[in-house]
Amino acid sequence: MSNWNSGLTPETAARALDALESGSVLRLQLPFPLLDQESDLLSPGLLSGARKNISYNSDDGSLKGCVNDPQLELCVRGLLERYNSLTRQLADTLFVPYRGHLQVGRTSYRPAEIAGRKSSSWRRDDTRLHIDAFPATPVSGRRLLRFFHNLNPHDSRRWIVGEPFPELARHFFSLMPKPSVLQARLLAFMQVTRSLRSSYDHYMLQLHDRMKADLDYQAKVPKIPVEFAPGETWIVYSDQASHAVLSGRFMLEQTFYLPVDNMAYPERSPLRVLEGLAGHTLV
Ligand SMILES: [Fe+2]
Repeated sequence: MSNWNSGLTPETAARALDALESGSVLRLQLPFPLLDQESDLLSPGLLSGARKNISYNSDDGSLKGCVNDPQLELCVRGLLERYNSLTRQLADTLFVPYRGHLQVGRTSYRPAEIAGRKSSSWRRDDTRLHIDAFPATPVSGRRLLRFFHNLNPHDSRRWIVGEPFPELARHFFSLMPKPSVLQARLLAFMQVTRSLRSSYDHYMLQLHDRMKADLDYQAKVPKIPVEFAPGETWIVYSDQASHAVLSGRFMLEQTFYLPVDNMAYPERSPLRVLEGLAGHTLV
């Protein structure tokens, strides 16, 4: 497809959805030119303090992580609003069965270079293979669908992609402690989590942490390098596809959430795979 809402034939759209829900990365070439007044945005100097990204909430228009400069903030907000709007159109065009079910999450801009950056801990080191799961924001089984765009006009963004989700889940499941209802209640009471951490969220965080902590696993698991060229867009269920980011800067990202029951193949979701291993429901 050549633009953000040109559509696909039903056969191609069905194949794309099948691949996406299998954990594959969909890659697209779609133009997203910067406006003349946005040329200053290709700079890591936009970030406030030690922030890794600038995030925009399209529900309330709030912007976080940008330096305190009204002119720049206006410009970044414009860029993120445009990306938010185009990715929503693209999601509606590409994934017809998801229409009306996708919940729009944050839009973010990551201007800093990944290569050589010191992470504050191994947990935050995204150069190690992992699946996305976040300690403070339980999703209770909802899928994490992300649209990325490499805004860098000169350099690729480099990833590696690891083994399929069912295999990594089987690899780590027997090593993971069982969830504790008491601990989940305590975390919510102390406002460490924004809502009650479900058993599903417990296992996903465990997977995220155990993958990153296990250097032997990181070294030996089958993996393939992937380069996203300047101007490339890619779409992935980042809670399912094992991935690591090796290098790159100036990337846009839009998150969507999808209830598992609105998937074409819900049995492939991390929720259903983990429930199969646990032998009971997890949300
Ligand atoms: Fe990630």
